[in-house]
Amino acid sequence: MHKKRVLSGLQPSGQLHIGNYFGAIKPNVELFKDHQGLFMIADYHALTSLKDPQALHENIIENVKDYLAAGLNLDNAILFQQSSVQEHTELAWIFDTLVTVPFLMQAHAYKDKVARGLEANAGLFTYPMLQAADILLYDIDVVPVGEDQRQHIEYAREAAKKFNSAFGDTFKEPEELISESVAVVPGTDGQKMSKSYGNTIPLFATRDEIQRAVMSIVTDSSGDVPENVYAIHKLYRSEKELTMIYHSNRGNYKALKETLIEDIDLYIAPMREKRTSITDEDAKKILKEGGEKAKTIASKKMADVRKKIGVAL
Ligand code: ADP
Ligand code: TRP
Repeated sequence: MHKKRVLSGLQPSGQLHIGNYFGAIKPNVELFKDHQGLFMIADYHALTSLKDPQALHENIIENVKDYLAAGLNLDNAILFQQSSVQEHTELAWIFDTLVTVPFLMQAHAYKDKVARGLEANAGLFTYPMLQAADILLYDIDVVPVGEDQRQHIEYAREAAKKFNSAFGDTFKEPEELISESVAVVPGTDGQKMSKSYGNTIPLFATRDEIQRAVMSIVTDSSGDVPENVYAIHKLYRSEKELTMIYHSNRGNYKALKETLIEDIDLYIAPMREKRTSITDEDAKKILKEGGEKAKTIASKKMADVRKKIGVAL
């Protein structure tokens, strides 16, 4: 049976929080338990908003450790940096010449980012064509993404269609895989957890940091169940267990928060331990090897593309 080929892409956006983990890392890592494919650190995408070389460098290395600690299976996944395979930016340019400005202007992600005050640089604008190249270079079947990225996968299909009709059948049209089960993880203030809101519980926090973050969860005194505590607790225990715990500690917010601290700490302890065993050198070596493997696949595809468009001599 033909197994579906997967590509996951995550921007190296700094210290991860539990929202990133449950919303993106965990579902992505789980796919590689029984699928083959590529797990890409989208550093050139991150450059559209992050212009701090030291931070970008550190995020790349630290995120490799995060993914490995979160259980990414390197037997099935090629873990690599987008910037180490130049074919991505090369192919993105070719796609840029095939799509129109009005088409790119319809991108919700672009409009949202500009509305939030991000600089409308040309890279941010053509971002979907770099993402299309990330995917199409590797004949990917399935791309796991959040709802906010659905349109970008449509753009990738569109880029494939445009190229195929202009130059002949070359690219496979990928499908998005949207995990419905993971709702938005709320932060300590009840809003969406996000590093830009300062309401996070860091994924690899120490026990003290977990304690501080959980104790700061906003609770309103109107009900027996502190909603914001419960919403996070649900990620760590079944609703059945929680019903019992929340029933027997009705109104005792402090005890409930202490149970949550204990549960988060228990869950993260083995991952935290694994993470400390991975050195910067290990991370760099894995990226180097992954980059070479990805490059082998991508350069073959690009040779075909160069021939088809007429630039190969
Ligand atoms: P942040 O909002 O902290 O800047 P990012 O935008 O870098 O996070 O998100 C990285 C990934 O984590 C994305 O796939 C996003 O969908 C997921 N994610 C971020 N915050 C949450 C959340 N609160 N709940 C669920 N998933 C989230
Ligand atoms: N745009 C994606 C995000 O912000 C990251 C990304 C870049 C990506 N290239 C990709 C995701 C290719 C899937 C496939 O989350």
